[in-house]
Amino acid sequence: MEKVLVTGGAGYIGSHACKALRAAGFEPVTYDNLVTGWEDAVKFGPFEKGDLLDRARLDEVFAKHKPVAVMHFAALSQVGESMSIPAKYWRNNVMGSLTLIEAAVDAGCMNFVFSSTCATYGDQDNVVLDENSAQMPINAYGASKRAVEDILNNFGESNGLNHVIFRYFNVAGGDPDGEVGEFHQPETHLIPLMLDAIEGKRPALTIFGTDYDTPDGTCIRDYVHVCDLVDAHVLGLKWLQDGKGSRVFNLGTGKGFSVREVVDHSRSVTNKEVPMVDGDRRAGDCTKLVSGSERAENELGWTPARSTLEAMITDAWRWHQNGHYEK
Ligand code: UFG
Repeated sequence: MEKVLVTGGAGYIGSHACKALRAAGFEPVTYDNLVTGWEDAVKFGPFEKGDLLDRARLDEVFAKHKPVAVMHFAALSQVGESMSIPAKYWRNNVMGSLTLIEAAVDAGCMNFVFSSTCATYGDQDNVVLDENSAQMPINAYGASKRAVEDILNNFGESNGLNHVIFRYFNVAGGDPDGEVGEFHQPETHLIPLMLDAIEGKRPALTIFGTDYDTPDGTCIRDYVHVCDLVDAHVLGLKWLQDGKGSRVFNLGTGKGFSVREVVDHSRSVTNKEVPMVDGDRRAGDCTKLVSGSERAENELGWTPARSTLEAMITDAWRWHQNGHYEK
């Protein structure tokens, strides 16, 4: 069985990717330092504990497993934190990725799939963002991901590293079988926090800003189901293995929903009210991030079939009530 090195395979998106890779006939080898990931989430292949900045450990893992590709999910991803402690983001996301990319090239592993983000586009009001849109991040998280895109492009030109870059919009939902799910500590994302508030695990959901230039004053995001997202990664891997070359793809649905619209949809799924309070804007938040998603659909043959708010909230709600990990 061909092996794929999955950095961050113990995390939310990485663990779902491991399940999808296994289903597609690959053996996912998780490489994770467990700072934000959970060993319990590593269920679909071997686990190698290690840090992105540990070049000797990376070399050992490449030599042992001889992966045909890398899927690089491991990253710090909190927009707010990236504004207060940017050094963490530059060190972990940029220096860590550079270390990994060099190790992959030196090991002769020349297919690389990278998790980037719509946060690299920044705040471009009322524009649908496609892959050719300017990248003008307004937070350190987005800047760190854009820097890694630059590194990959340079390594592509100089070393022949083939790479697919996926720019994610807002990832939500969970494995419908409940084997893995979203579990961050601390949690910062809208849907799990909303479900916590419904269950009384938090007093209320704070709406971060009600004075944005949007129809109801709250931020608009394009939500994509994690299972659809990881399916695109398997298609991206096959794209690279077929020798189709380096490419950037947005992963979103092309439809935006405001924070209040997400809350409204949750009522129909859970039959419960969301306790809410209006709060201030959160530093680093863009007004609206909506994907022009045609390229992934047309070129990869990707269909985000599960990415309705109903399905994402339903799958998240099921996991939220039954699933969690422990250190
Ligand atoms: N929000 C609230 N209250 C909360 C949490 C979130 O109102 O308690 C709002 C945010 O302000 C934002 C929306 O809900 O408007 C979504 O927020 P998330 O924190 O769930 O997601 P983000 O849009 O901030 O971040 C996500 C990913 C990042 C990615 C980013 C791009 O987590 O990795 O999208 O903006 F980079």
